[in-house]
Amino acid sequence: MTAALDYAVQNADVFVDQLKDFLRIPSISTDSVYDADTRRAADWIADDLRSIGIPTVEVMETDGHPIVYAEMGDDPGKPTVLVYGHYDVQPPDPLELWDSPPFEPVEKDGIIYARGACDDKGQVLMHVKATEAYLKTTGELPVNLKFIIEGEEESGSVHLVPFIEQNRELLAADVVMISDTSLFADGVPSITYGLRGLAYVEVTLTGPERDLHSGVYGGGIENPVNALCKMIADLHDENHRVTIEGFYDPVRELSDEEREGFRALPFDEEAWLEEAGAPATKTEAGFSTLEGISARPTLDVNGMWGGYTGEGAKTVLPSQANAKISCRLVPDQMPDDITEKLRRHFEKHVPETMTLDFKDLHGGHAAIVDTKSPAMKAAATAMEAVFGRTPYFTREGGSIPVVADFKRILGLDSVLMGFGLDSDAIHSPNEHFGIDRFHQGIEASIRFLDAYSRQ
Ligand code: BES
Ligand code: ZN
Repeated sequence: MTAALDYAVQNADVFVDQLKDFLRIPSISTDSVYDADTRRAADWIADDLRSIGIPTVEVMETDGHPIVYAEMGDDPGKPTVLVYGHYDVQPPDPLELWDSPPFEPVEKDGIIYARGACDDKGQVLMHVKATEAYLKTTGELPVNLKFIIEGEEESGSVHLVPFIEQNRELLAADVVMISDTSLFADGVPSITYGLRGLAYVEVTLTGPERDLHSGVYGGGIENPVNALCKMIADLHDENHRVTIEGFYDPVRELSDEEREGFRALPFDEEAWLEEAGAPATKTEAGFSTLEGISARPTLDVNGMWGGYTGEGAKTVLPSQANAKISCRLVPDQMPDDITEKLRRHFEKHVPETMTLDFKDLHGGHAAIVDTKSPAMKAAATAMEAVFGRTPYFTREGGSIPVVADFKRILGLDSVLMGFGLDSDAIHSPNEHFGIDRFHQGIEASIRFLDAYSRQ
């Protein structure tokens, strides 16, 4: 392992240059204009895996963007690690808020700015470079290693689940390693053991069949924008709890021990609030902010539109009002069940003066992983060696639905060893990744493979 660690230090700058090349490819999976670029990113990472000496590397077709699969080793005496990550990125909009173009990586004060720097190209590459460090020095790996790197994570992973179902043997492993989450704070190591799920819907209320003059008709026809605002306002009560019937029924309550764990975390609420750029916090009554953002379910309007939104005033009584609404879920809420509960709620409350169109956009399951498994212990050993302090076990509010799918389909637990920071602006303008964290991640990956092979 020492030789691999040395190699990583000696090649630190080369690795950063390679990351920049990867970041120059605008692999925006949701936008078909970028289909060729998205494929180019798959080819880029596949070529890199080949060039470091992995014998089997395939760009496997799906009905959407391809999945990059690679493997090395089938020694029955070694455990098998399946590294999962994604080469696709979020759209960079709004472009005008970027200080430099999103696909022209810029290095400033030890930080790389580009779409995908943290989520997830930088973090995927850490594992590839750790593998390279072993192969270029010892010529072998301490474990059997597989990679599955998809191109549709940011657009709902629609083709990934059937791929996993159809390739059970190919993907057989002892554990999944994922770096697509955050550290508790800069320099404060953590391993994530819980992620939230998601239920995402779109609602349209239609009143009059066309937009009407608000003077001629207002007062006699109900306004769908007014009505939708009221319906949405009623989705939370005075304790900031979601009012959908049965919403909390399946929620696994936090144990005293877990709540104690939350209290023990060095959470700087002031700093967090400042970083969020918000004047005050708002959390479900009876729960701390940290619990609210990771271990409690939420309901948020992601966007709302209807009527006239252009410059100046136009007196209009709109025909329609729309909202995109998502719920972050916790165990054991099921996305389909929550979506049905939302549907029933809206159907029950839609005014008689209008019709409702309710669309299920997508969903994903929450996940809690075993913190006591050999792989978790190996990850903790690795993180402790890199940071010089014991990692915390944390829950995070974001979603990686494939974690639950790996468990359900392959019976595999995941180790969520991420190196992002909440402040890395993933999905936002000026996304970035600290070069020091990129190197910490490579070192942690090298150390994890070594520690896990000894368990
Ligand atoms: N890397 C994120 C998820 C994440 C971010 C987890 C920060 C923990 C901390 C991932 O790429 C992502 O954005 N996922 C989506 C999933 C959705 C599209 C199903 C999300 O959480 O919104
Ligand atoms: Zn991601």
